[in-house]
Amino acid sequence: MRVLGIETSCDETAAAIVDGERRILSNVVLSQIEDHRVYGGVVPEIAARGHLTHLPGLIEKALADAGLGFQDIDAVAATAGPGLIGGVIVGATMAKSIALARHLPFLAVNHLEGHALTARLTGGVAFPFLLLLVSGGHCQLLAVAGVGRYHLYGGSVDDAVGEAFDKTAKLLGLPYPGGPAIEQAAMQGDPARFDLPRPMLGKPGCDFSFSGLKTAVRRLVAGRADGDAGFVADMAASFQQAVAEVLADRTKRAMRRFAEEHGAPTTLVVAGGVAANRTLRAALEQAAGAEGFRFEAPPIALCTDNAAMIAWAGLERLRLGLVDDLAFAPRPRWPLDGERTIKKGAHAQGAGVGGVRE
Ligand code: KG4
Ligand code: ZN
Repeated sequence: MRVLGIETSCDETAAAIVDGERRILSNVVLSQIEDHRVYGGVVPEIAARGHLTHLPGLIEKALADAGLGFQDIDAVAATAGPGLIGGVIVGATMAKSIALARHLPFLAVNHLEGHALTARLTGGVAFPFLLLLVSGGHCQLLAVAGVGRYHLYGGSVDDAVGEAFDKTAKLLGLPYPGGPAIEQAAMQGDPARFDLPRPMLGKPGCDFSFSGLKTAVRRLVAGRADGDAGFVADMAASFQQAVAEVLADRTKRAMRRFAEEHGAPTTLVVAGGVAANRTLRAALEQAAGAEGFRFEAPPIALCTDNAAMIAWAGLERLRLGLVDDLAFAPRPRWPLDGERTIKKGAHAQGAGVGGVRE
């Protein structure tokens, strides 16, 4: 079984082919970052036009890299939300067109489910597992019981963690995207120099908050003394350290709850773009060890947005017969767990729709 996956929900245009043996036959990612950098963030209209321009060539390349033609593909999967809707429409419509022309099943994949199931592609992780999903738009802890079966333990009450990295980088004059820039700057910095707040640390529950941390950085940046050459590196390191401690603390609580509800610890999976950060990975790996959980984080190239994860989530859905109708409407908001949303004002169109579609 081979599935072609398409990803266009943010500023990466991507196409990939995976098979039922957990092999990635091709994985092509085109980053549009240079087109957006001057604006300090992703401009939705520019992203959508970029996807439209590049996607056909990337699909051809994904087929060529795998040495396959459309006749060798069994289904087409595309991110159908959540994300910047113009881009999502480009990718989903392309997938539907191929499906229609080649008489193939179409799979509307939730981008977050793509991140969530990547560890099953790369590490063969079994259900159930605990997932910490940390990306530019999301920060949540979920118990994953199966494909489409998610139970939200907690999420950010304000900024997503990647967003906090991006905003803090901007305050420090570092380039977009902020996560890799902060990680790089922090290598030369002293994580103990600035005593930044640890929002939510030690509080009951599994929710996160990052806006206070960002505000503290803003205040310190405003009071920065002239000639303080180590300021940016020390602040980057101190910020990263604070985030690591908060993530480890909240995840520890979630691991305890998960072990109680499932009778024993299983695996902690970390996914999403922020999971590329080595300091955060190390802190979470240590926390997992302390709670008796196995730790699994996909290779860094599969943590940030890509289409292999979409093809794989599509393949998992196809195996269960969860094929979608060509009338499926892309969703700007699409929580994995329909019970609640994580961001303020996130109850726009599509919210409240659970991970399971019938
Ligand atoms: O999953 P992703 O590629 O796109 C979304 O679906 O959001 O995540 C992108 C986010 C950005 O906020 C970026 O700054 C962050 O992941 N990120 C990192 C690192 N690499 C990417 N954050 C911290 N450290 C990194 N090394
Ligand atoms: Zn993502």
